[in-house]
Amino acid sequence: MTSAIQAEGLAKQFGETKALTSVDLQVPAGTVLGLLGPNGAGKTTAVRILTTLLRPDAGRALVMGHDVAKDPERVREIIGLTGQYAAVDEHLTGTENLIFLARLLGFTRARSRAVAADLLERFGLADAADRSAKTYSGGMRRRLDLAACLVAEPQVIFLDEPTTGLDPNARDQLWEIIRDQVRRGSTVLLTTQYLEEADQLADDIVVIDHGSVVAQGTPQTLKREFGRPTLEVRPVHHEQLDRVADVVADVAGERTVEGRAVKTRVHDATVLPAVVRRLDEAGIEVAELSVREPSLDEVFKQLTVTGAEV
Ligand SMILES: Nc1ncnc2c1ncn2[C@@H]1O[C@H](COP(=O)(O)OP(=O)(O)O)[C@@H](O)[C@H]1O
Ligand SMILES: [Mg+2]
Repeated sequence: MTSAIQAEGLAKQFGETKALTSVDLQVPAGTVLGLLGPNGAGKTTAVRILTTLLRPDAGRALVMGHDVAKDPERVREIIGLTGQYAAVDEHLTGTENLIFLARLLGFTRARSRAVAADLLERFGLADAADRSAKTYSGGMRRRLDLAACLVAEPQVIFLDEPTTGLDPNARDQLWEIIRDQVRRGSTVLLTTQYLEEADQLADDIVVIDHGSVVAQGTPQTLKREFGRPTLEVRPVHHEQLDRVADVVADVAGERTVEGRAVKTRVHDATVLPAVVRRLDEAGIEVAELSVREPSLDEVFKQLTVTGAEV
């Protein structure tokens, strides 16, 4: 499969701050890469390098085969970028914003109108098309921002924290639009601090922290590799909690007591029969016994445990 984005050894330092330390990325065409990391991890720095806005100190990046440092004009022709903060002109209406951009790209007046109307319709902004953007809600602005980035029909789209600060409804709408855009064949690199977002949208995830890649894989492999399932046992009789804890520790090696339950991390669900048998032998009645798969959130916390900058 051809790579839409390929980066090797990207590094960038601001004064004493190492924003990126030798980051490699590979995004096959037509897929979504989720670049995941806490505040200050280096996500925006990576996006700025890949979108030709910033030169790396070291490393190389190609977008659709074009070198971002050697051929930035060519790269700019084929990419779209929406920033962390919506960047539409708020004094113009939705329609005017898009027509303005289309005219800048050299589209005819008629084509500009058609493109604007089409995008506003697709993004659920048709009713607000003739209102100035300053009257738009946060979610509407982000959608307009994304629509603006799509006027030029970019092959590769960079979305820097597209849903940060949006309410769940607005976020869901934006997710659906992004999915639709991918179905139309675009390649997307999106940065996010939200595991759920990466899980929902990304084919592959690269987790960065303090400028370095700390993990990568599909959402499923990351969960499998880094998150172990949790076994939880709650006895019917609270007095038996200590004995439950002993049994669990015996079988699984470690345990914590939380409220009325005993919990432990296990490698897989195969310890379950052993725990059941031992509890039964000990005559302990169980109110609840479960093995819960790790959430991507737990994986993320584990990976970035050194602490995010605030
Ligand atoms: N222009 C800059 N000047 C100085 N430091 C910067 C600059 N841009 C980013 N940084 C620093 O680099 C690190 C990575 O920042 P950034 O890429 O914006 O992270 P993220 O987007 O993941 O929150 C942070 O410590 C940030 O303070
Ligand atoms: Mg950022």
